[in-house]
Amino acid sequence: MKNIFNLYTKTKTIFLFCLVFILITLLLQNNVAAQEKLYQEPYRPQYHFSPKINWTNDPNGLVYVKGVYHLFYQFNPFENFWGHMTWGHATSKDLIHWDHQPIAIPEEKDTMIFSGTCVYDLNNSSGLGTQQKPPMVAIYTGHIKDVNQSQHIAFSIDEGKTWKKYNKNPILDLGKKDFRDPKVFWYAPKKYWVMCVNLPQEHQVQFYSSVNLLNWKFLSDFGPKGDTTGVWECPDLVQIPVLHSTQKKWVLQVSMSEKMQYFMGEFDGIKFIIDSNQKTILRPDAGPDYYAGISYGQLPSNHLPTSIAWANNWRYAGKIPTSPWKGAMTLPRNLWAENTNGVWHLIQKPISNLNILRKKLAYQKIVTDTKDENISLEAIGINADVYECDFELSSASNEKVGISVLNDKFMGIEIGYEPNLKKVFINRTKTNSFSEKDFAEISYFTAPLNSATDKIKFKVLVDNSIIEVFVNDGESVFTVQAFPIHSDKNIKILNTTTLGSVKNLQIYPLQSIW
Ligand code: FRU
Repeated sequence: MKNIFNLYTKTKTIFLFCLVFILITLLLQNNVAAQEKLYQEPYRPQYHFSPKINWTNDPNGLVYVKGVYHLFYQFNPFENFWGHMTWGHATSKDLIHWDHQPIAIPEEKDTMIFSGTCVYDLNNSSGLGTQQKPPMVAIYTGHIKDVNQSQHIAFSIDEGKTWKKYNKNPILDLGKKDFRDPKVFWYAPKKYWVMCVNLPQEHQVQFYSSVNLLNWKFLSDFGPKGDTTGVWECPDLVQIPVLHSTQKKWVLQVSMSEKMQYFMGEFDGIKFIIDSNQKTILRPDAGPDYYAGISYGQLPSNHLPTSIAWANNWRYAGKIPTSPWKGAMTLPRNLWAENTNGVWHLIQKPISNLNILRKKLAYQKIVTDTKDENISLEAIGINADVYECDFELSSASNEKVGISVLNDKFMGIEIGYEPNLKKVFINRTKTNSFSEKDFAEISYFTAPLNSATDKIKFKVLVDNSIIEVFVNDGESVFTVQAFPIHSDKNIKILNTTTLGSVKNLQIYPLQSIW
Protein backbone atom coordinates (compact mmCIF):
# COMPACT_ATOMS: atom_id res chain seq x y z
CA MET A 1 0.00 0.00 0.00
CA LYS A 2 2.83 2.35 1.01
CA ASN A 3 4.59 1.58 -2.31
CA ILE A 4 1.52 2.40 -4.29
CA PHE A 5 1.17 5.65 -2.35
CA ASN A 6 4.84 6.54 -3.03
CA LEU A 7 4.43 5.81 -6.73
CA TYR A 8 1.33 7.97 -6.80
CA THR A 9 3.11 10.93 -5.12
CA LYS A 10 6.14 10.54 -7.43
CA THR A 11 3.96 10.47 -10.56
CA LYS A 12 2.03 13.47 -9.29
CA THR A 13 5.27 15.42 -8.65
CA ILE A 14 6.63 14.51 -12.11
CA PHE A 15 3.31 15.46 -13.68
CA LEU A 16 3.25 18.79 -11.86
CA PHE A 17 6.88 19.45 -12.76
CA CYS A 18 6.14 18.72 -16.45
CA LEU A 19 3.07 20.95 -16.35
CA VAL A 20 5.05 23.87 -14.86
CA PHE A 21 7.82 23.29 -17.43
CA ILE A 22 5.34 23.32 -20.34
CA LEU A 23 3.63 26.44 -18.97
CA ILE A 24 6.94 28.29 -18.58
CA THR A 25 8.04 27.26 -22.11
CA LEU A 26 4.71 28.44 -23.53
CA LEU A 27 4.96 31.72 -21.66
CA LEU A 28 8.51 32.29 -22.85
CA GLN A 29 7.55 31.44 -26.43
CA ASN A 30 4.64 33.84 -26.27
CA ASN A 31 6.89 36.51 -24.91
CA VAL A 32 9.44 35.92 -27.71
CA ALA A 33 6.62 36.03 -30.27
CA ALA A 34 5.29 39.28 -28.74
CA GLN A 35 8.81 40.76 -28.76
CA GLU A 36 9.21 39.78 -32.41
CA LYS A 37 6.03 41.60 -33.33
CA LEU A 38 7.08 44.75 -31.50
CA TYR A 39 7.90 47.55 -33.94
CA GLN A 40 5.88 45.85 -36.66
CA GLU A 41 2.49 47.08 -35.49
CA PRO A 42 0.31 49.21 -37.76
CA TYR A 43 1.37 52.89 -37.68
CA ARG A 44 4.61 52.12 -35.82
CA PRO A 45 7.33 54.59 -36.85
CA GLN A 46 10.39 52.76 -38.14
CA TYR A 47 13.07 55.45 -37.84
CA HIS A 48 11.59 57.71 -35.19
CA PHE A 49 12.19 56.74 -31.55
CA SER A 50 9.25 55.27 -29.66
CA PRO A 51 9.27 53.15 -26.49
CA LYS A 52 8.56 49.41 -26.86
CA ILE A 53 5.31 49.70 -24.97
CA ASN A 54 3.25 52.34 -23.14
CA TRP A 55 2.94 56.07 -23.12
CA THR A 56 5.63 58.69 -23.72
CA ASN A 57 5.54 62.48 -24.02
CA ASP A 58 8.39 65.02 -23.72
CA PRO A 59 12.02 64.22 -24.43
CA ASN A 60 14.03 64.94 -21.27
CA GLY A 61 17.66 65.32 -20.25
CA LEU A 62 19.25 65.27 -23.71
CA VAL A 63 22.98 65.08 -23.01
CA TYR A 64 26.10 63.79 -24.68
CA VAL A 65 28.51 61.90 -22.41
CA LYS A 66 31.69 60.21 -23.67
CA GLY A 67 30.48 59.39 -27.17
CA VAL A 68 26.96 58.43 -26.07
CA TYR A 69 23.79 60.45 -26.74
CA HIS A 70 21.32 60.01 -23.90
CA LEU A 71 17.60 60.41 -24.46
CA PHE A 72 15.43 60.38 -21.35
CA TYR A 73 11.72 60.76 -21.83
CA GLN A 74 8.45 61.21 -19.95
CA PHE A 75 7.18 57.65 -19.57
CA ASN A 76 4.32 55.77 -17.95
CA PRO A 77 5.77 52.34 -17.06
CA PHE A 78 2.34 50.83 -16.39
CA GLU A 79 -0.15 51.95 -19.02
CA ASN A 80 -0.63 53.27 -22.51
CA PHE A 81 -1.82 56.67 -21.36
CA TRP A 82 -0.43 59.58 -19.35
CA GLY A 83 0.25 58.95 -15.63
CA HIS A 84 2.88 57.75 -13.11
CA MET A 85 5.40 60.00 -14.83
CA THR A 86 8.86 58.50 -14.74
CA TRP A 87 12.03 59.06 -16.77
CA GLY A 88 12.47 56.36 -19.40
CA HIS A 89 15.95 56.09 -20.92
CA ALA A 90 17.54 55.22 -24.26
CA THR A 91 21.06 55.70 -25.62
CA SER A 92 22.57 56.05 -29.06
CA LYS A 93 25.98 56.31 -30.67
CA ASP A 94 24.75 58.02 -33.86
CA LEU A 95 21.44 59.73 -32.91
CA ILE A 96 19.71 57.35 -35.34
CA HIS A 97 19.78 53.89 -33.72
CA TRP A 98 18.60 53.67 -30.11
CA ASP A 99 19.19 51.10 -27.37
CA HIS A 100 16.51 50.87 -24.71
CA GLN A 101 17.83 51.20 -21.16
CA PRO A 102 16.20 50.41 -17.83
CA ILE A 103 13.98 53.08 -16.31
CA ALA A 104 16.18 55.89 -14.97
CA ILE A 105 14.10 57.83 -12.42
CA PRO A 106 10.86 56.27 -11.18
CA GLU A 107 7.88 58.05 -9.68
CA GLU A 108 7.99 58.05 -5.90
CA LYS A 109 4.91 57.85 -3.71
CA ASP A 110 3.07 61.11 -4.39
CA THR A 111 5.84 62.72 -6.48
CA MET A 112 5.87 62.28 -10.24
CA ILE A 113 9.05 62.92 -12.22
CA PHE A 114 8.24 65.68 -14.69
CA SER A 115 10.41 67.12 -17.46
CA GLY A 116 13.91 68.47 -17.05
CA THR A 117 17.57 68.32 -18.03
CA CYS A 118 20.56 66.14 -17.47
CA VAL A 119 24.12 67.47 -17.25
CA TYR A 120 27.49 65.76 -16.99
CA ASP A 121 29.11 67.38 -13.97
CA LEU A 122 32.65 66.79 -15.19
CA ASN A 123 34.39 68.71 -12.35
CA ASN A 124 32.09 67.25 -9.72
CA SER A 125 30.90 70.76 -8.81
CA SER A 126 27.92 69.22 -7.04
CA GLY A 127 30.05 66.88 -4.93
CA LEU A 128 27.57 64.13 -5.79
CA GLY A 129 30.31 62.04 -7.42
CA THR A 130 34.08 62.05 -7.21
CA GLN A 131 36.87 63.45 -9.43
CA GLN A 132 37.35 59.91 -10.78
CA LYS A 133 33.65 59.29 -11.18
CA PRO A 134 31.99 62.58 -12.14
CA PRO A 135 28.24 62.38 -11.75
CA MET A 136 25.53 62.77 -14.35
CA VAL A 137 23.00 65.05 -12.67
CA ALA A 138 19.34 65.11 -13.68
CA ILE A 139 17.45 68.26 -12.69
CA TYR A 140 13.71 67.69 -13.05
CA THR A 141 10.40 68.90 -11.68
CA GLY A 142 8.96 66.92 -8.78
CA HIS A 143 5.20 67.11 -9.27
CA ILE A 144 2.74 66.64 -6.40
CA LYS A 145 -0.71 66.87 -7.91
CA ASP A 146 -2.61 70.05 -7.01
CA VAL A 147 -0.05 70.84 -4.30
CA ASN A 148 3.44 71.66 -5.51
CA GLN A 149 5.93 71.70 -8.36
CA SER A 150 9.56 72.23 -7.44
CA GLN A 151 12.96 71.38 -8.89
CA HIS A 152 14.66 68.16 -7.80
CA ILE A 153 17.89 66.31 -8.48
CA ALA A 154 18.87 62.70 -9.11
CA PHE A 155 22.38 61.58 -9.98
CA SER A 156 24.30 58.69 -11.44
CA ILE A 157 27.97 57.85 -11.00
CA ASP A 158 27.96 54.98 -13.49
CA GLU A 159 27.23 57.02 -16.62
CA GLY A 160 23.48 56.76 -16.44
CA LYS A 161 23.03 53.07 -15.62
CA THR A 162 21.70 53.56 -12.09
CA TRP A 163 20.23 56.64 -10.43
CA LYS A 164 19.78 57.93 -6.90
CA LYS A 165 17.51 60.75 -5.82
CA TYR A 166 19.29 63.53 -3.90
CA ASN A 167 18.37 63.28 -0.22
CA LYS A 168 17.83 67.04 0.24
CA ASN A 169 15.27 67.51 -2.54
CA PRO A 170 13.79 69.90 -3.57
CA ILE A 171 16.68 72.17 -4.55
CA LEU A 172 14.46 75.01 -5.77
CA ASP A 173 10.96 75.53 -4.45
CA LEU A 174 8.83 78.68 -4.72
CA GLY A 175 5.93 76.96 -2.96
CA LYS A 176 3.94 77.10 -6.20
CA LYS A 177 1.58 74.67 -7.86
CA ASP A 178 2.99 75.47 -11.30
CA PHE A 179 6.74 75.90 -11.66
CA ARG A 180 8.36 73.46 -14.01
CA ASP A 181 10.64 71.97 -16.67
CA PRO A 182 14.16 73.18 -15.77
CA LYS A 183 16.71 73.41 -18.57
CA VAL A 184 20.26 73.67 -17.23
CA PHE A 185 23.53 74.40 -19.06
CA TRP A 186 27.06 75.52 -18.23
CA TYR A 187 27.66 79.20 -19.04
CA ALA A 188 31.44 79.31 -19.46
CA PRO A 189 32.05 83.13 -19.43
CA LYS A 190 30.61 83.40 -15.90
CA LYS A 191 31.75 79.96 -14.77
CA TYR A 192 28.34 78.93 -13.50
CA TRP A 193 25.37 76.75 -14.37
CA VAL A 194 22.27 78.52 -15.68
CA MET A 195 18.76 77.20 -15.20
CA CYS A 196 15.78 78.35 -17.30
CA VAL A 197 12.50 77.28 -15.77
CA ASN A 198 8.89 78.17 -16.46
CA LEU A 199 6.22 79.93 -14.50
CA PRO A 200 3.53 78.44 -16.77
CA GLN A 201 0.56 80.54 -15.65
CA GLU A 202 2.52 83.80 -15.73
CA HIS A 203 3.92 83.04 -19.25
CA GLN A 204 7.42 83.63 -17.97
CA VAL A 205 10.79 81.97 -18.16
CA GLN A 206 12.92 82.55 -15.08
CA PHE A 207 16.73 82.35 -15.08
CA TYR A 208 18.79 81.18 -12.10
CA SER A 209 22.53 80.55 -11.59
CA SER A 210 24.45 78.06 -9.48
CA VAL A 211 28.06 77.01 -9.02
CA ASN A 212 27.19 73.57 -7.63
CA LEU A 213 23.80 72.63 -9.12
CA LEU A 214 22.38 72.53 -5.58
CA ASN A 215 21.98 76.19 -4.53
CA TRP A 216 20.32 78.49 -7.03
CA LYS A 217 20.24 82.29 -7.23
CA PHE A 218 17.57 84.22 -9.14
CA LEU A 219 18.97 86.18 -12.12
CA SER A 220 16.10 87.53 -14.23
CA ASP A 221 12.94 86.65 -16.05
CA PHE A 222 11.57 86.87 -19.59
CA GLY A 223 7.95 87.30 -20.66
CA PRO A 224 5.03 87.50 -21.01
CA LYS A 225 5.77 87.88 -24.75
CA GLY A 226 4.63 86.41 -28.04
CA ASP A 227 1.88 83.83 -27.74
CA THR A 228 0.42 83.80 -24.22
CA THR A 229 -2.88 82.08 -24.95
CA GLY A 230 -1.89 78.94 -23.01
CA VAL A 231 0.47 77.83 -20.24
CA TRP A 232 4.22 78.02 -20.98
CA GLU A 233 6.17 74.77 -20.64
CA CYS A 234 9.59 73.28 -21.41
CA PRO A 235 11.88 76.29 -22.00
CA ASP A 236 15.08 75.74 -23.96
CA LEU A 237 17.86 78.29 -24.41
CA VAL A 238 20.77 77.52 -26.71
CA GLN A 239 23.38 79.39 -28.71
CA ILE A 240 23.32 78.56 -32.41
CA PRO A 241 25.53 79.43 -35.40
CA VAL A 242 24.40 81.92 -38.01
CA LEU A 243 24.13 80.20 -41.38
CA HIS A 244 27.24 80.79 -43.56
CA SER A 245 28.89 82.92 -40.88
CA THR A 246 31.04 82.69 -37.75
CA GLN A 247 28.52 84.79 -35.82
CA LYS A 248 26.21 83.23 -33.19
CA LYS A 249 22.72 83.96 -31.87
CA TRP A 250 20.73 82.73 -28.89
CA VAL A 251 17.34 81.14 -29.37
CA LEU A 252 14.83 80.72 -26.54
CA GLN A 253 12.10 78.20 -27.31
CA VAL A 254 8.98 77.53 -25.25
CA SER A 255 6.07 75.15 -25.65
CA MET A 256 2.53 76.30 -25.12
CA SER A 257 -0.47 73.97 -24.94
CA GLU A 258 -0.21 72.56 -28.47
CA LYS A 259 2.45 74.60 -30.19
CA MET A 260 5.96 75.87 -29.77
CA GLN A 261 7.28 79.38 -30.31
CA TYR A 262 10.76 80.85 -30.30
CA PHE A 263 12.46 84.14 -29.57
CA MET A 264 15.78 85.16 -31.15
CA GLY A 265 18.07 87.36 -29.14
CA GLU A 266 21.12 87.66 -26.93
CA PHE A 267 21.95 86.16 -23.54
CA ASP A 268 24.73 87.63 -21.37
CA GLY A 269 24.64 85.05 -18.60
CA ILE A 270 22.04 87.05 -16.67
CA LYS A 271 19.29 88.19 -18.98
CA PHE A 272 17.76 87.17 -22.30
CA ILE A 273 17.08 90.17 -24.55
CA ILE A 274 14.81 89.56 -27.52
CA ASP A 275 15.79 91.14 -30.87
CA SER A 276 13.93 94.38 -31.34
CA ASN A 277 12.95 93.40 -34.90
CA GLN A 278 10.97 90.35 -33.82
CA LYS A 279 7.43 91.66 -34.06
CA THR A 280 5.50 88.49 -34.92
CA ILE A 281 5.07 85.09 -33.29
CA LEU A 282 7.67 82.69 -34.68
CA ARG A 283 7.15 78.92 -34.67
CA PRO A 284 9.88 76.32 -35.06
CA ASP A 285 7.40 73.98 -36.72
CA ALA A 286 4.27 74.83 -38.69
CA GLY A 287 2.70 71.39 -38.21
CA PRO A 288 0.46 70.23 -35.34
CA ASP A 289 2.74 67.53 -33.94
CA TYR A 290 5.81 69.26 -32.57
CA TYR A 291 5.99 69.89 -28.83
CA ALA A 292 8.34 70.09 -25.83
CA GLY A 293 11.37 70.35 -28.10
CA ILE A 294 14.68 70.77 -26.29
CA SER A 295 18.32 70.76 -27.37
CA TYR A 296 21.27 68.53 -26.51
CA GLY A 297 23.67 69.67 -23.82
CA GLN A 298 27.44 69.28 -23.79
CA LEU A 299 27.90 68.38 -27.44
CA PRO A 300 31.51 68.43 -28.68
CA SER A 301 32.49 71.85 -30.08
CA ASN A 302 32.48 70.65 -33.70
CA HIS A 303 28.92 69.35 -33.33
CA LEU A 304 25.94 71.41 -34.50
CA PRO A 305 23.23 72.28 -31.95
CA THR A 306 20.65 69.50 -32.11
CA SER A 307 17.12 69.28 -30.81
CA ILE A 308 14.43 66.62 -30.43
CA ALA A 309 10.73 67.15 -29.74
CA TRP A 310 7.67 65.03 -29.00
CA ALA A 311 5.90 64.32 -32.32
CA ASN A 312 2.42 64.66 -30.88
CA ASN A 313 -0.24 67.08 -29.70
CA TRP A 314 -1.88 67.21 -26.25
CA ARG A 315 -5.22 67.86 -27.93
CA TYR A 316 -5.50 64.26 -29.13
CA ALA A 317 -2.34 62.49 -27.89
CA GLY A 318 -4.33 60.20 -25.59
CA LYS A 319 -6.64 59.10 -28.40
CA ILE A 320 -4.30 58.26 -31.27
CA PRO A 321 -4.96 54.70 -32.48
CA THR A 322 -1.59 53.15 -31.63
CA SER A 323 -0.91 50.22 -29.35
CA PRO A 324 0.92 48.95 -27.34
CA TRP A 325 2.67 52.35 -27.35
CA LYS A 326 1.61 55.98 -27.67
CA GLY A 327 3.97 58.80 -28.56
CA ALA A 328 7.23 59.14 -30.45
CA MET A 329 10.10 61.60 -30.81
CA THR A 330 10.83 63.71 -33.87
CA LEU A 331 14.04 63.18 -35.79
CA PRO A 332 16.97 65.03 -34.28
CA ARG A 333 17.37 68.41 -36.00
CA ASN A 334 20.35 70.72 -36.40
CA LEU A 335 19.73 74.40 -35.74
CA TRP A 336 21.01 77.60 -37.33
CA ALA A 337 19.94 81.25 -37.36
CA GLU A 338 19.39 83.25 -40.54
CA ASN A 339 18.54 86.88 -41.05
CA THR A 340 15.95 87.61 -43.73
CA ASN A 341 14.91 91.20 -44.32
CA GLY A 342 16.23 92.24 -40.93
CA VAL A 343 14.44 89.50 -38.94
CA TRP A 344 16.18 86.49 -37.42
CA HIS A 345 14.70 83.05 -38.10
CA LEU A 346 15.44 79.52 -37.10
CA ILE A 347 16.72 77.14 -39.79
CA GLN A 348 16.36 73.43 -39.07
CA LYS A 349 17.47 70.35 -40.98
CA PRO A 350 17.28 66.70 -40.01
CA ILE A 351 20.74 65.54 -38.93
CA SER A 352 22.74 64.61 -42.02
CA ASN A 353 23.52 61.20 -40.54
CA LEU A 354 19.97 60.23 -41.44
CA ASN A 355 21.36 59.40 -44.90
CA ILE A 356 22.82 56.18 -43.50
CA LEU A 357 19.28 54.78 -43.52
CA ARG A 358 18.82 55.33 -47.26
CA LYS A 359 18.53 52.16 -49.30
CA LYS A 360 19.19 52.23 -53.04
CA LEU A 361 17.51 55.09 -54.93
CA ALA A 362 14.19 53.57 -56.01
CA TYR A 363 12.88 56.24 -58.34
CA GLN A 364 14.09 59.36 -60.01
CA LYS A 365 12.55 61.72 -62.52
CA ILE A 366 13.84 65.07 -63.73
CA VAL A 367 10.45 66.45 -64.82
CA THR A 368 7.12 64.82 -64.08
CA ASP A 369 5.22 65.53 -67.25
CA THR A 370 1.88 63.85 -66.67
CA LYS A 371 -1.04 65.48 -64.97
CA ASP A 372 -1.92 63.73 -61.68
CA GLU A 373 0.65 61.02 -62.22
CA ASN A 374 0.60 58.10 -59.85
CA ILE A 375 3.77 56.38 -58.68
CA SER A 376 3.06 52.98 -57.23
CA LEU A 377 5.55 52.37 -54.45
CA GLU A 378 5.22 48.63 -54.84
CA ALA A 379 6.13 48.91 -58.52
CA ILE A 380 9.37 50.66 -57.60
CA GLY A 381 10.21 48.13 -54.91
CA ILE A 382 9.05 49.99 -51.77
CA ASN A 383 6.77 47.87 -49.62
CA ALA A 384 6.21 50.16 -46.65
CA ASP A 385 5.37 53.81 -46.07
CA VAL A 386 8.89 54.30 -44.82
CA TYR A 387 10.79 56.49 -47.25
CA GLU A 388 12.27 59.84 -48.13
CA CYS A 389 10.95 61.80 -51.07
CA ASP A 390 12.92 64.83 -52.29
CA PHE A 391 11.70 67.14 -55.02
CA GLU A 392 11.50 70.72 -56.24
CA LEU A 393 8.43 72.71 -57.15
CA SER A 394 8.09 75.55 -59.54
CA SER A 395 4.85 77.40 -59.57
CA ALA A 396 4.00 78.56 -63.05
CA SER A 397 0.23 78.77 -62.70
CA ASN A 398 -2.15 79.89 -60.02
CA GLU A 399 -3.06 76.40 -58.93
CA LYS A 400 -1.54 74.50 -56.07
CA VAL A 401 1.24 72.05 -56.88
CA GLY A 402 2.87 69.29 -54.90
CA ILE A 403 2.60 65.64 -54.08
CA SER A 404 0.24 63.48 -52.09
CA VAL A 405 1.38 60.62 -49.86
CA LEU A 406 -0.32 57.85 -47.85
CA ASN A 407 -3.09 57.72 -50.45
CA ASP A 408 -6.07 55.47 -50.74
CA LYS A 409 -7.89 55.41 -54.08
CA PHE A 410 -9.05 58.99 -54.00
CA MET A 411 -7.37 60.86 -51.19
CA GLY A 412 -4.07 61.39 -49.47
CA ILE A 413 -1.98 63.82 -47.51
CA GLU A 414 -1.10 66.72 -49.75
CA ILE A 415 2.16 68.60 -49.46
CA GLY A 416 3.03 71.52 -51.70
CA TYR A 417 2.76 75.17 -52.58
CA GLU A 418 -0.36 77.32 -52.76
CA PRO A 419 0.45 80.26 -55.14
CA ASN A 420 -2.65 82.25 -54.18
CA LEU A 421 -1.57 82.33 -50.56
CA LYS A 422 2.16 82.35 -51.35
CA LYS A 423 2.47 79.61 -48.76
CA VAL A 424 3.74 76.06 -48.49
CA PHE A 425 1.24 73.69 -46.97
CA ILE A 426 0.44 70.22 -45.70
CA ASN A 427 -3.16 69.06 -45.73
CA ARG A 428 -4.40 65.98 -43.94
CA THR A 429 -8.14 66.75 -44.39
CA LYS A 430 -8.16 64.84 -47.64
CA THR A 431 -7.38 61.52 -46.07
CA ASN A 432 -9.45 58.73 -44.61
CA SER A 433 -7.39 59.02 -41.43
CA PHE A 434 -8.89 58.10 -38.06
CA SER A 435 -11.67 60.53 -37.45
CA GLU A 436 -11.33 61.62 -33.83
CA LYS A 437 -12.86 65.11 -33.75
CA ASP A 438 -9.95 66.86 -32.06
CA PHE A 439 -7.60 65.35 -34.62
CA ALA A 440 -9.73 66.06 -37.67
CA GLU A 441 -10.41 69.64 -36.60
CA ILE A 442 -6.81 70.70 -37.09
CA SER A 443 -5.75 69.40 -40.46
CA TYR A 444 -4.49 72.11 -42.77
CA PHE A 445 -1.20 73.84 -42.04
CA THR A 446 0.67 76.54 -43.91
CA ALA A 447 3.92 78.45 -43.65
CA PRO A 448 5.00 81.58 -45.50
CA LEU A 449 7.99 81.46 -47.82
CA ASN A 450 10.78 83.99 -47.57
CA SER A 451 12.64 82.86 -50.65
CA ALA A 452 11.82 82.85 -54.37
CA THR A 453 9.12 80.50 -55.65
CA ASP A 454 10.62 79.36 -58.94
CA LYS A 455 12.42 76.51 -57.19
CA ILE A 456 11.00 75.44 -53.83
CA LYS A 457 12.89 72.48 -52.37
CA PHE A 458 11.07 69.79 -50.37
CA LYS A 459 12.42 66.93 -48.27
CA VAL A 460 9.51 64.74 -47.17
CA LEU A 461 10.23 62.02 -44.63
CA VAL A 462 7.38 59.53 -44.37
CA ASP A 463 7.46 57.06 -41.48
CA ASN A 464 4.15 55.20 -41.36
CA SER A 465 2.22 57.62 -39.15
CA ILE A 466 4.70 60.52 -38.89
CA ILE A 467 5.57 62.85 -41.75
CA GLU A 468 8.29 65.48 -41.39
CA VAL A 469 8.63 68.03 -44.18
CA PHE A 470 11.64 70.32 -44.54
CA VAL A 471 11.18 73.17 -47.05
CA ASN A 472 14.08 75.03 -48.67
CA ASP A 473 16.76 73.40 -46.53
CA GLY A 474 15.02 74.10 -43.26
CA GLU A 475 13.40 77.48 -43.82
CA SER A 476 10.03 75.95 -42.85
CA VAL A 477 9.30 72.63 -41.20
CA PHE A 478 6.10 70.64 -40.66
CA THR A 479 5.65 67.64 -38.38
CA VAL A 480 2.34 65.89 -38.93
CA GLN A 481 0.83 62.62 -37.80
CA ALA A 482 -1.64 60.71 -39.95
CA PHE A 483 -3.35 57.38 -39.42
CA PRO A 484 -4.90 56.40 -42.75
CA ILE A 485 -7.33 53.53 -42.55
CA HIS A 486 -6.16 52.14 -45.90
CA SER A 487 -3.04 53.14 -47.69
CA ASP A 488 -2.41 52.10 -51.28
CA LYS A 489 1.29 52.72 -50.97
CA ASN A 490 1.62 55.23 -53.72
CA ILE A 491 2.67 58.81 -54.29
CA LYS A 492 0.50 61.03 -56.40
CA ILE A 493 1.99 63.97 -58.25
CA LEU A 494 -0.31 66.97 -58.11
CA ASN A 495 0.78 68.48 -61.41
CA THR A 496 -1.55 71.12 -62.63
CA THR A 497 -0.14 71.29 -66.13
CA THR A 498 1.42 68.74 -68.45
CA LEU A 499 4.57 70.84 -68.34
CA GLY A 500 5.21 69.43 -64.93
CA SER A 501 5.78 71.46 -61.81
CA VAL A 502 7.31 68.70 -59.68
CA LYS A 503 10.96 68.35 -60.64
CA ASN A 504 14.05 66.41 -59.69
CA LEU A 505 12.01 63.88 -57.82
CA GLN A 506 13.96 61.23 -55.93
CA ILE A 507 12.56 58.49 -53.72
CA TYR A 508 14.66 56.49 -51.29
CA PRO A 509 13.25 53.65 -49.19
CA LEU A 510 14.62 53.96 -45.64
CA GLN A 511 15.77 51.17 -43.33
CA SER A 512 14.11 50.49 -40.02
CA ILE A 513 16.24 51.27 -36.96
CA TRP A 514 14.61 48.48 -34.96
C1 FRU B 1 4.81 69.22 -21.38
C2 FRU B 1 4.52 68.80 -19.95
C3 FRU B 1 5.52 69.41 -19.01
C4 FRU B 1 5.53 68.46 -17.86
C5 FRU B 1 5.30 67.14 -18.54
C6 FRU B 1 4.48 66.16 -17.74
O1 FRU B 1 4.33 68.35 -22.32
O2 FRU B 1 3.20 69.18 -19.60
O3 FRU B 1 5.25 70.74 -18.65
O4 FRU B 1 6.74 68.49 -17.15
O5 FRU B 1 4.65 67.41 -19.76
O6 FRU B 1 4.41 64.92 -18.34
